[in-house]
Amino acid sequence: YPLPIPPQKQLKLTYHPGSASSAVIDYYEIEVEKCQKQIYPDRAPTEYVGYDGQVPGPKFVMQRGREAVVRFTNNGPFNISTHVHGQYNRAPFDGWAADYAAPGQYKDYYYPNSQNARSIWYHDHTEYTTGEHAYRGLAGGYIITDPQEQSLGLPKDVHDIALALSAKRYNEDASLNYDTNNSVGVWGDVIQVNEQPWPYLNVEPRKYRLRLLNGAVSRTFDVSLAIDHGSRPGTGKDIQFNVIASDGGLLSHPVQTNHLGLSMGERYEIIVDFAGHAGQNITMRNARGLGENIDYAATDLVMRFCVGGAVSDNTNNGELPAQLRSIPPPPNIDQPAKNFTFERIDGEWLINGVGFADIEHRVLAKPKRGTDELWVLKNGNGNGTHPVHIHLVDFQVLSRTGGRNTVFPWEAAGMKDVVWLGGGETVTVVARYAPWDGVYMFHCHNLVHEDHDMLAVFNVTQLAK
Ligand code: C2O
Ligand code: CU
Repeated sequence: YPLPIPPQKQLKLTYHPGSASSAVIDYYEIEVEKCQKQIYPDRAPTEYVGYDGQVPGPKFVMQRGREAVVRFTNNGPFNISTHVHGQYNRAPFDGWAADYAAPGQYKDYYYPNSQNARSIWYHDHTEYTTGEHAYRGLAGGYIITDPQEQSLGLPKDVHDIALALSAKRYNEDASLNYDTNNSVGVWGDVIQVNEQPWPYLNVEPRKYRLRLLNGAVSRTFDVSLAIDHGSRPGTGKDIQFNVIASDGGLLSHPVQTNHLGLSMGERYEIIVDFAGHAGQNITMRNARGLGENIDYAATDLVMRFCVGGAVSDNTNNGELPAQLRSIPPPPNIDQPAKNFTFERIDGEWLINGVGFADIEHRVLAKPKRGTDELWVLKNGNGNGTHPVHIHLVDFQVLSRTGGRNTVFPWEAAGMKDVVWLGGGETVTVVARYAPWDGVYMFHCHNLVHEDHDMLAVFNVTQLAK
C-alpha cells in the first residue's frame, strides 16, 4: 500500500488586536477520537485513537515567531495530556503527565513557536499510560519553519516527506496488542511508516528531503537504503545519503553516511538523491540485533521507494550548501556535573532510584534559569536501551563512553533533545536551562520504561536578584 501523507492542519481563526499591531495568535482545534484503520485487507478494521480521528494526526506547519493556541478536546476513551516534543513550552502547556483532560473535557495549549526551524512531534503524555496511548495512535508531526532554512534551497513540497516509523503487534481479530513483555518493551513484528505497514512511495529520480522520526514505543532503528534485485529487497547499504538536521533543527553542515540510528523519540532529516536510480526499487532496511530489540521475520524491512523514470520538477534539486547554520560551540562549565543513573530496581525502571510516582523525591535537579549544566547520563543495566529525553531544552552531546564508545557525527553536528543511551553507556550532555522557569519532566523514551516509572523532574528556578 502507498505511504499515507497526513494532511496539514488548517487553522480555525486568528486572534488579532486590530490593524495597529502585528501581534497575532493563531487558533487551532483538535478533537481526539476513536477511528478505524484497515490494516489487514482480509480481517476486520483495527480500532485506533487519533487526533482529529486520524493516525498519524494532522501535521502542524508553523512559521517561526507566529504564536499559536491549540484546543485539544477529548472525545476519546481515556485521559489525555498533550506534549509537543521539541518545543520549549511554558510549563503549564508542556503536557505534564498528571495534568490530563478526562473524556469530555478539553484543554487549551499555548505554543510560542519561536525556536529555529525543526521537525518536532506531538504525542500523548498521560501518567503511566503514555506508551499505550501513543501506540494506539496519539502522535502526529509538527514542523516549525523559518526564513534561514527556506533560503537554503532544500527540496520542498512533494519532495519533502515526513516518515514516522513505528512497530505494532496485532491479535488474530486485528485489534492492537499491547503486551509489554513484563514491562520491558513492546517491539512489534509489524513495521509501520505513517501507520501503514511496510508501505511504498513513488519518487522521481531526484533529491528528496525525508524527515525521519522514531515514533515506536520500544524499538530502536538503524536504517539504510538497499537497491532491490527484481522483487527481492536488496540487502546492501548501497546508497550514501546526507543527514542535514536532528531534533533541534539543522546541523551545522551535512553529514554523509550509509546508515543512521534512531532511538525512540529521535528525529533526523536526510537528503536522499534518487538520481541514477531511475526505474529501480530501493528498500529502506533496519538493522537486526540492535540493543534489546526482539527481531521478527520482517522487522529488518521498513519501506520501499519506487523510483520513476523522469523528473517532472527540478526545483530545489541542486548541490547542498556546505554550511547549513551556525551552532555555537559548547559552553565551558565551571560547576560540577550532575549524575543520573537509569536502571531497573525491583522491577521498576528508575532514575537515581526515583520514579514519577515518588512525588516527594522526583525533583532531581534545580537548575537556575539561564545557566548551563553538564548532565552525565549513565545506563545502569546490561544491554537495555534508554533514549533519554529532556523537556524544554536543546542539548549538545559531548561524549559517550562504554558500549559504542563514540558520539556519531550526526549527533555531534547539531542540537538534540533525545540521546540514545545504549547498553553499558555513559553519555554527557550540556544544555542551557532556559528560557522559562518551572517544573519539567525528563525520562526514558522507551515508553514502557517511562510508564514504569523512568520519569523524573527538574525545576528551573529563578535567578536570585
Ligand atoms: Cu516525546 Cu516527554 O516526550
Ligand atoms: Cu529506558
